[in-house]
Amino acid sequence: MINSLRGFRDLLPPESDLFARIETAAREVFGLYGYQEVRLPVLEKKELFVKSTGDTTDIVEKEMYAFTDGGGREVALRPEGTPGLVRAYIEHNLGQTGRNGKYFYIGPMFRAERPQAGRYREFTQIGAENIGNSSPYADAETIAMLVRLLEKAGVAGCSVVLNSLGCGDCRKAYRELLLAFLRGRSETLCEPCRGRIERNPLRALDCKTDGPALAETAPKLSLCPACAEHFSRTRELLKISGVEFQVNTSLVRGLDYYTRTVFEVRSAALGGQDAVCGGGRYDDLVRSMGGPAAPAIGWAVGVDRMALLLKDKPAPDTAPGAFVVSAAKEAGEKAFALLTALRAAGISSDYSSFDLSLKSQMRSADKSGASFALLIGEDELKAGAVTIKPLKEKSGQYTVPIKDAPAEIEKRLPKL
Ligand code: HAM
Repeated sequence: MINSLRGFRDLLPPESDLFARIETAAREVFGLYGYQEVRLPVLEKKELFVKSTGDTTDIVEKEMYAFTDGGGREVALRPEGTPGLVRAYIEHNLGQTGRNGKYFYIGPMFRAERPQAGRYREFTQIGAENIGNSSPYADAETIAMLVRLLEKAGVAGCSVVLNSLGCGDCRKAYRELLLAFLRGRSETLCEPCRGRIERNPLRALDCKTDGPALAETAPKLSLCPACAEHFSRTRELLKISGVEFQVNTSLVRGLDYYTRTVFEVRSAALGGQDAVCGGGRYDDLVRSMGGPAAPAIGWAVGVDRMALLLKDKPAPDTAPGAFVVSAAKEAGEKAFALLTALRAAGISSDYSSFDLSLKSQMRSADKSGASFALLIGEDELKAGAVTIKPLKEKSGQYTVPIKDAPAEIEKRLPKL
């Protein structure tokens, strides 16, 4: 017996159905906001993530599934979607297409984290990126879209946490200030932070070990006038959009590319792994990866975590409308043709096996939750007919010509 890997899950019904519902809700919302889908490779050059996500982040330093392939290439399973999207944007000159620069993606991401409830090594993200728009309208629009998606999917009780990390200029002065502060207490920091503060002092604020204490004591970033104005406009526009949020100056996010607005959506119901979504602006990433100067903003929701929040919501009824039963051996072919006709008419239909006994087939029909059993026995075969037996009521069975059966069932099934 070979089991699945730790942190890698089989998504079985009804959870798989929840994933599909969330994806359907997302596609509807993306349609409303003018986002188009891109499907990106799961495997990329390792360098892509080192350069964009950042070589001092936990994701790249500790969690990436990186390896050398048979051809000696350094590759990695994508730990997040933004770098691949930015690569595709640059590689295909998407900025030249005259499109609105709004893209979404849905798919698996991989991080070798310690698995626990809500944290897996393979998980699904739905991500949205708006490239080429530097205005605070884009910030408010993208966050409002995220809130709309959560509502549409039925996820309630979440809070939006917001902060601004400023631009390169605001951060240059802050970097020195923070570095001096961290150097002064380096013996109290965890091993990885001690190793990386010189390269990226901001990472200590996001560290799972040191971050919480530092949030209280570390110096705070002060925004330059342009970034302060951007942040203030974003907050005003969010209010106009009816989005509730809290500003939290400790929110730094665990990826290197962010500038200005950053945000997370959290749910207390998730416990330790409470982030349902993370995102922010990355105005310098496209250029730093070799593309045009294209400011951008985006987010990604964790579908696994959304599904955890929805798991007690009843799934829509997936029972078939009709269950076809062959009550005589010779009736199998007619029953099989009837299944085809029912499905062609848009009626979800099922059967067990036409070679089994009538009793066994009827037992399966009852278990399936179908509304009607459609029986073809010797008499029906001779008459070119089918007997319709309502399964949810005790009585009322009747016989109709076989060609009329789909229309008859359609008439009697509740309209969706
Ligand atoms: P992130 O915060 O690293 O951001 O991930 C976004 C979401 O993915 C998290 O809020 C969480 O719901 C989910 N997630 C992350 N790791 C795991 C895990 N191990 N198991 C289950 N769910 C997980 C990003 O990935 C950025 N690319 C978001 C972004 C897009 N920023 C700008 N554009």
